[in-house]
Amino acid sequence: MAKTWSITVPGSTANLGPGFDSIGLALGLYLKLEVTLQDEWEFEHHSVHLPEKFTVEEHLVYTVAKEVAERFDVELPGCKIVMTSELPLARGLGSSASAIVAGIEVANQVCELNLTLEQKYTLASRIEGHPDNASASVCGGLTIGASLPNGDLELIHTQDVQAAFAVFIPNVELKTAEARKVLPPQYDKAYAVHASANANMLTAALLTKDYKRAGKFMEHDLFHEPFRANLIPNYHEIRQTAKDAGAYGTAISGAGPTVISLLPIEKVTAFVEKMKPLFPTYDIQAVRVDTKGVQVEIHETIN
Ligand code: HSE
Repeated sequence: MAKTWSITVPGSTANLGPGFDSIGLALGLYLKLEVTLQDEWEFEHHSVHLPEKFTVEEHLVYTVAKEVAERFDVELPGCKIVMTSELPLARGLGSSASAIVAGIEVANQVCELNLTLEQKYTLASRIEGHPDNASASVCGGLTIGASLPNGDLELIHTQDVQAAFAVFIPNVELKTAEARKVLPPQYDKAYAVHASANANMLTAALLTKDYKRAGKFMEHDLFHEPFRANLIPNYHEIRQTAKDAGAYGTAISGAGPTVISLLPIEKVTAFVEKMKPLFPTYDIQAVRVDTKGVQVEIHETIN
């Protein structure tokens, strides 16, 4: 019997405004891998969203799979991995987190590690450096995470999100490292208290499905958006236009430059059609919330 694996990982948005480095939401845009065992490692990219030039040694899926195998003290067998992606790179839609989650799942499958969901999101969040995109890609739905002083990750997640989202994807990239460089090294006490109160309100509103209020607090971030706004093309204009067209709120998706609007489900299709001619250089899409997280199908064939 020869085994092959189809692995599907959702992309994600992070922060939703003040939920900086903590809140993630899985989106119905996917990274897909077809994995077969062979002697040497090999990748094939079949998507405009995946780089044409790469080396196996520096490929994030490979480096993460190798790191996970080493952590569990097992040998990582050679694999051929054929990848397709709906996630544009460096746009704030969690493409690198989805590659990290894919690497963990590859090691999990080909090394038969039987990792739990908790092990997967803990590993993915450690490798990514924060739990927002990574845990959303593992669990699906809405995730809220925080690390304890001992390094353990506490995560609350729910698939019950009764709202719609639309993304405005510009045709420019913004690397997360660049978008993090503009953030202040520390915040004044009163400022931090205010920023944290806004994040608390966002979280409470999302979990009680008070989406009107969630949208309001998406637009009241003090942790990162005031410092990143200048890096995001048409940031103020999109927020205002989206609000006028019925969005509850609009925030930078992750580190940007994509921005994401929260809307009532019944309004999203008309909203997207209205926005397209107003921002013609953007790829504007209604995106559904992914509720499954990383998925694996195993195929067994007789040699
Ligand atoms: N929370 C992260 C940020 C998401 O805003 O920088 C991108 O990794």
